[in-house]
Amino acid sequence: MERKVTQPAGPVLGIESSCDETAAAILAPDGEILAERVLSQLADHAAFGGVVPEIAARAHLAALGPMVAEALREAGLGFGDLGAIAATAGPGLIGGLLVGTGFAKGAALAAGKSYLAINHLEAHALTARLPGLAAVQPAFPYLLLLVSGGHCQCVAVEGVGAYRRLGTTLDDAVGEAFDKVAKLLGLPYPGGPGLEALARDGDEAAFGLPRPLLHRAGCDFSFSGLKTAVAQLVLGQGEAALPRQLAADIAASFQAAVADILGDRLQHALTMLPNATAVVIAGGVAANQRLRARLAEVVGGQSKNLIAPPPRLCGDNAVMVAWAAIERLRAGFADDLTAPCRPRWPL
Ligand code: KG4
Ligand code: ZN
Repeated sequence: MERKVTQPAGPVLGIESSCDETAAAILAPDGEILAERVLSQLADHAAFGGVVPEIAARAHLAALGPMVAEALREAGLGFGDLGAIAATAGPGLIGGLLVGTGFAKGAALAAGKSYLAINHLEAHALTARLPGLAAVQPAFPYLLLLVSGGHCQCVAVEGVGAYRRLGTTLDDAVGEAFDKVAKLLGLPYPGGPGLEALARDGDEAAFGLPRPLLHRAGCDFSFSGLKTAVAQLVLGQGEAALPRQLAADIAASFQAAVADILGDRLQHALTMLPNATAVVIAGGVAANQRLRARLAEVVGGQSKNLIAPPPRLCGDNAVMVAWAAIERLRAGFADDLTAPCRPRWPL
């Protein structure tokens, strides 16, 4: 069915607060970024080794109002100039979702603007279509590999609002595996960036670690066997802190195993969507250069392009939320103020 194509009536404000980043962004109706702000709550959660939902919600509440005011000031706009206000409504932590959507709904009601409830995964999925990111905006259908702290999925992106999950993790998300292995190696949370840096000084061939589900049909993922193997390896070294070179060798061997797993799963996913115009990677883990290189090899082997947004747009941000809102408005979708938060909201 053809939907009526409508441009947003003015710039779109996007808000992200589903996990531990508070973010706000304002995009012109054509997708030009007029202002963007991200505040990580890492320091608030550091002592706990993970995200504490109640602390996250309170921190979003404290940060969001001033952040939106700053973004509006930078863009030279008031609420009245906006065309729509959008917030991530799920999946995510309910406290943060309530803060972000409550703010967006209140502002939309007060300023008489339309409100959009955005699925965080859809926002990651559509980021690559933001004008100016790729040489050519990827056309539908394309394959999305979403790799973050909470998700690890292959998705066929067949249109705005038309997503088909081809495979997902059977246990941990890949970012979670990075974080757990990093913790074993004595690195702070979130461990991905530190582990990647440490792995640069290590030998990838030092340890032969398992690669679960390799060559298995479909494109599901599994990381728990790999994580357990690393845990046993580390515990086997005794009580003392690991020598730096040994830690680097373990990090490099782990990262090489993940690269092999993701590369293999992506290869299978491509056979499940042979008419994919491109492959897009998204999520915080997509910032990893070693993984990107492996995925680029696989995609290049199929004569397709790998589109990897810059790291700041791979992790959680609000530019993707505002952009998803623009895509949805253009495709004729609309929400109203009764749209609920959905802590679990599969694509
Ligand atoms: O998408 P994201 O910012 O938040 C959600 O989980 O939704 O992803 C965060 C995850 C964390 O697990 C973090 O360790 C991982 O992305 N990460 C990385 C890298 N940078 C962030 N993992 C591997 N290599 C990196 N360079
Ligand atoms: Zn995310």
